[in-house]
Amino acid sequence: MAKKVFIKSYGCQMNVYDAERMADVLAPAGYALTDDQDAADLIILNTCHIREKAAEKVYSELGRIRRRHEETGGARPTVAVAGCVAQAEGEEILRRARHVDLVVGPQNYHRLPQLLAEAGRATSRGGVVDTEFPLDSKFDHLPEPTARGPAAFLTVQEGCDRFCAFCVVPYTRGAEYSRPARAVIDEARRQVAAGVREITLLGQNVNAYHGIDGGLAALIRALAAIDGLERIRYTTSHPRDMDDALILAHAEIPALMPNLHLPAQSGSDAILARMNRRHTAADYLRIVEALRRARPDIALSSDFIVGHPGESERDFEATLALVREAGFAQAYSFKYSPRPGTPAAEMDGQVPEAEKSDRLARLQSLLNDQQLAFNRRAVGTTVPVLFDRPGKRPRQLAGRSPHMQSVHVDCAGAGEAAALFGTIAPVAVEAAHANSLAGRLASDRPAAGRLLQRETAGA
Ligand code: 5AD
Ligand code: SF4
Repeated sequence: MAKKVFIKSYGCQMNVYDAERMADVLAPAGYALTDDQDAADLIILNTCHIREKAAEKVYSELGRIRRRHEETGGARPTVAVAGCVAQAEGEEILRRARHVDLVVGPQNYHRLPQLLAEAGRATSRGGVVDTEFPLDSKFDHLPEPTARGPAAFLTVQEGCDRFCAFCVVPYTRGAEYSRPARAVIDEARRQVAAGVREITLLGQNVNAYHGIDGGLAALIRALAAIDGLERIRYTTSHPRDMDDALILAHAEIPALMPNLHLPAQSGSDAILARMNRRHTAADYLRIVEALRRARPDIALSSDFIVGHPGESERDFEATLALVREAGFAQAYSFKYSPRPGTPAAEMDGQVPEAEKSDRLARLQSLLNDQQLAFNRRAVGTTVPVLFDRPGKRPRQLAGRSPHMQSVHVDCAGAGEAAALFGTIAPVAVEAAHANSLAGRLASDRPAAGRLLQRETAGA
């Protein structure tokens, strides 16, 4: 009987991609994916280290796994810790959680079958650790990916050389690495042949991609030529790597969707300098302006950190001012969390927790207002939706608008829902909520590409 693997992923979309690739690597070794942790022979925690308490959360989850197994008294599952906490903590995990069999970093999971075999033999010495940065790329060893739905992720770039003062990524994911364009295009072709209609190109600093002359813009142009690939997105970008060619791509390539996640982090030049972002608030706003000239309906999203060391009330107000000026369709905001080994953790001017909470609440209230206003502007318009998942209710389908909004519709029956799944169909938007839109299938169904959208981005 096939063995079962349960994978729990934390954090960013790259971890979601990595989890899928781990499943691809394990399939030939006889493992089938399960959603039921209790039924699993192998449990993998695919961890995130970006903010505080990440490691503590992993240790408490490991404690829960051990207690759960003691309660049920079944066969002991093999337990593996993967992802960025594995990379950062290494051996320490084996010392603190003795029931862990394997610790594997983000660059090593293509070796999972061998590592599991080693772990099986190594129980007496208590587990196996592989967090070396290998000389050759895991991508040269991974099997062909299995498509799992109409919208897929595709990692094109990994690691980061920017060294923002607050960030652990350059340490956990390592130096910047771009996959060769040929490999990316082949993977995209296979995904499309398996029914994928939308691809999100992933990288920690994806617009630094240099696997082809002309960078990310050239890669997107090559991908847009693939027949059947209707939508392309990319995330996450650094403002400094937003070059003219990429901005032009937003004007010229219809398959490149009108939304962009472009983290600003702060609106204060003093804090941006302390963060080592190497751009000013004015630089950021100039890029936004150029993007809107290229693609007037582009919807922007961002990440913000409040309470970075040295942030005064005036600095924070500059962030609010930038948000008002740029106008975001969506954004994530976080309290600064000191990460061991990063320069910001050692800086003076650490901000008290209560101050951070207060600023976060004020920022989030502004961002939520902008998000709702953006969603409300879609009401009364017709938007092409790629249906990629079932809704919460029976006969309900959910999908994404070009602007990445979740859109729900009720179908006439199971037959209609099945026929629509994986396709792009026009939806007349009737209601806007904080995090989603609802509407009905538009009766006249022009081709998705010819739909007009009258909303513009920004609040
Ligand atoms: N504290 C708080 N937020 C952080 N981020 C990265 N490092 C930290 C940190 N130490 C946020 C940034 C980044 C997002 C992925 O996480 O805003 O863009
Ligand atoms: Fe971290 Fe992004 Fe800065 Fe790289 S560019 S160091 S991933 S915040």
